[in-house]
Amino acid sequence: MPEQLSHEQLLQYAKEYGTPLYVYHTEKIAAQYGKLKAAFQKSDTRFFYACKALTNVNILRFMRSLGTSVDCSSINEVRLALYSGFRPDEILYTANGIAFSEIEEAQSLGVNINIDSLSNLEKFGRRFGHSYPAGIRLRPDIMAGGNLKISTGHNKSKFGIPVKKIDQAIALAERYDIFVRTLHIHTGSDIDDADIFVKGIEVLFDIIPGFKELESIDLGGGFKVPYKKGDKEIDIYKLGEKVYDAFSDYEKKNRKKFSIWFEPGKFLVSQCGYFITQVNVLKETEATTFAGVNSGFNHLIRPMFYDAYHHIENISNPAGTKKKYSVVGNICETDTFAWERSLNEVREGDLLVFHNAGAYGFEMSSNYNSRFKPAEVMVKNGIAYLIRKRDEFEDLLRNQIEVL
Ligand code: LLP
Repeated sequence: MPEQLSHEQLLQYAKEYGTPLYVYHTEKIAAQYGKLKAAFQKSDTRFFYACKALTNVNILRFMRSLGTSVDCSSINEVRLALYSGFRPDEILYTANGIAFSEIEEAQSLGVNINIDSLSNLEKFGRRFGHSYPAGIRLRPDIMAGGNLKISTGHNKSKFGIPVKKIDQAIALAERYDIFVRTLHIHTGSDIDDADIFVKGIEVLFDIIPGFKELESIDLGGGFKVPYKKGDKEIDIYKLGEKVYDAFSDYEKKNRKKFSIWFEPGKFLVSQCGYFITQVNVLKETEATTFAGVNSGFNHLIRPMFYDAYHHIENISNPAGTKKKYSVVGNICETDTFAWERSLNEVREGDLLVFHNAGAYGFEMSSNYNSRFKPAEVMVKNGIAYLIRKRDEFEDLLRNQIEVL
């Protein structure tokens, strides 16, 4: 099975299901997972798919069929993971800033929990003592990631317990006899440099001796995948070697072996996703020629929110002469997907496809401007399945209570 969907397939799905449309290709997910398995085969690893990237239950079930576990960032993601068939021990709940009641709920559901503040660690200790394992999320004070909004490990970030406060975490663990089974760090998203992970491991090696019952080290997610021409995927094989070397060294010196956990989101699902839109309007202005599509940042927010680049193709006219267009959405405020992008000649009615739309695409969509959320299709073994209907008018009213 090829790892990419062809223009013909995408044109066919657009015709069958309408646009705007998200399409996910499971063979690409499997290929990415295969790379992870191969790269880390020498180490004892577990991969928890960071499902915040894309939570459709069919994608979750597909992940489970591949053999991944799942990382959740809210109690509802935990519920979705359970609903999709993951066992509690295959689920990890790494949240931040949550009420202790959610931690209690996660405990009652039997899932793994990473705790991200001293206050929740103390409450956890008081409530559960040694009876339930805990992971501790640390902030390693490392700056990494594609841009500041998606950097989580630096010294101004809200995430995790700052490494400088590690003594307080150790003191709490001792006072309440907390069973600290995992240490966790997640430094950021779009990390292209394997050495950032090594830096994180070094920070952890200083801390590990403070926790005697550790079984696993969770290095989070953030592996970069290419979005634009010239972008490189993180060298996952080099990372696999470096992680193996660091931990086998540690094991030799300290006679202590760990299971190594990762939480990949984009690496598994970014490239599997295609977002198909249709050009409603062409507008020539003195500044640029706008190609206005039947979508907007309500459906794919990454360009407006992170200045993210998504490769765009005109699949209706792939041999057309290249010209520059600014691709914009129909939301009633500035809504730019790409400025002065070179595309094969665009005509009204043409279909424009956005690549790398699997991760944080549909998942971050909204009903802003009272537009419908798009439909989602999953393609597996060449067969396309509708896995979410497009919204309908009733969906906009669903939770409204009419009092006037
Ligand atoms: N683990 C934790 C604790 C995380 O916070 C995240 C992402 C991941 C794993 C997965 O990171 P990934 O492998 O996907 O890079 N919406 C942004 C990305 C936000 C990432 C948030 N945390 C975007 O579209 O670029």
